[in-house]
Amino acid sequence: MSDTKNFDVVVIGGGPGGYIAAIRAAQLGFSVACVDEWSNAKGGPAPGGTCTNVGCIPSKALLQSSEHFEHAGHSFAEHGIDVAGLTLNLPQMLKRKDQVVKQNNEGILYLFKKNKVTFFHGRATFAGAAEGGYTLSVTGPGAATLSAKHVIVATGSNARELPGAPFDEKIILSNTGALAIDAVPGKLGVIGAGVIGLEMGSVWRRVGADVTVLEGLPTFLGAVDEQIAKEAHKLFTKQGLKISLGVKIGTITKHDNGVTVEYTDAAGAAQKAEYDRLIISIGRVPNTIGLGAEVVGLALDERGFINVDGECKTNLPNVWAVGDVVRGPMLAHKAEEEGVAVAERIAGQHGHVNFNTIPWVIYTSPEIAWVGQTEQQLKAAGIAYKAGTFPFLANGRARALGDTSGMVKFLADATTDEILGVHIVGPMASELISEAVVAMEFRASSEDIARICHAHPSLSEATKEAALAVDKRSLNF
Ligand code: NAI
Repeated sequence: MSDTKNFDVVVIGGGPGGYIAAIRAAQLGFSVACVDEWSNAKGGPAPGGTCTNVGCIPSKALLQSSEHFEHAGHSFAEHGIDVAGLTLNLPQMLKRKDQVVKQNNEGILYLFKKNKVTFFHGRATFAGAAEGGYTLSVTGPGAATLSAKHVIVATGSNARELPGAPFDEKIILSNTGALAIDAVPGKLGVIGAGVIGLEMGSVWRRVGADVTVLEGLPTFLGAVDEQIAKEAHKLFTKQGLKISLGVKIGTITKHDNGVTVEYTDAAGAAQKAEYDRLIISIGRVPNTIGLGAEVVGLALDERGFINVDGECKTNLPNVWAVGDVVRGPMLAHKAEEEGVAVAERIAGQHGHVNFNTIPWVIYTSPEIAWVGQTEQQLKAAGIAYKAGTFPFLANGRARALGDTSGMVKFLADATTDEILGVHIVGPMASELISEAVVAMEFRASSEDIARICHAHPSLSEATKEAALAVDKRSLNF
């Protein structure tokens, strides 16, 4: 076709996996296009995917705003700051969140320009295999026909629905609607005590909603280190978040102004609850809608993920897939690492992602963050380990901050002292975990961290003290 635009690399999807892959490929000298269909309220392009538009970025904006509100209402007085007539301006809070999203959308478009990545606003579909590559048709505002020697699929994921309770984003909300409730609900129900449920539940509780979280599993945050999860459960419950574990959700009936959820509780008793709004956060499903996988024979697994090997290669030559649409944790930073590694592999380099050192963060207050293995995983694997913990209660900076909840926990190999996992619940856990990630990448021992000078007074001293505690020689506890 004469009007076909030719590229070395076409990236489908402009979320953290896709846009980063596009930039890295361009840095490596390839001609690169990135196609993304997300539109803003005015119909313009909104690259950045779930993370930027309805995930990481807007949720953190609201978490910050709601935390300010909670501090102003509950902790300023202790600091000697009296606030009279504190009120919530929810429209402004939501407007600010939208502005933060817009800045990030624009930032990505700027980065594309800077790196000479050609951006197409629309949906890319595999149209066929062309000589030495693939043909893709783009529909939407940036309609075009593209040919690519290499294709990187980074189409992300969508919220999983509960059968019989489709999202209307007004009453029954996914992560998208949960970020845009226009009036604080009196009673908010949340199904699924995972990352989204806890983060969004926290936001709306802080601004005044009565929040109940219904979780199917009998354990709270099963993937988190048990000691940390137990501490987090205690802290969240104390804050007023109601968490019911081991429930079995039955019928969900929507009315004009709310929803009735029938469920069986952990004791086997039938329950009926009324909520003004209901967030359903029970995981996400890979998004391959409209991709045309069948046209070229791109193989998916039985759960709908694109089949890839350890290097993100699909069953088709020169077609790669990264991020939420493939196996592994659905985390923006995992997608980014895969995107970079794939671009480097296309260039003949040896891109690598270390799945053992991908940090996890849950942005509640206090935050929960971890890297590596949990105590229960080590026990199950029969690995002999030593543990050391240090509470923020004994950290000077945490006392000055007025946030002494939680702890840092180190798990180290009993023989070699190599750090096997670090788990934090407490203030700024999301920032503190970086030190542990770096340490584990360098295969440090707990003694290495214990011997490194940490600034005083800082929260990071709790990390050093937890490392010292592995050898039972904490200095401040
Ligand atoms: P999730 O997998 O974190 O949690 C889902 C929860 O719902 C689980 O506890 C599960 O046991 C429960 N559940 C599943 N089916 C249920 C049912 N029928 N009834 C009651 N409970 C049920 O999924 P979530 O929170 O929806 O998040 C989706 C993805 O987005 C996750 O993979 C997460 O990693 C990612 N994400 C990451 C964030 C971060 O890194 N801070 C923030 C938000 C999302």
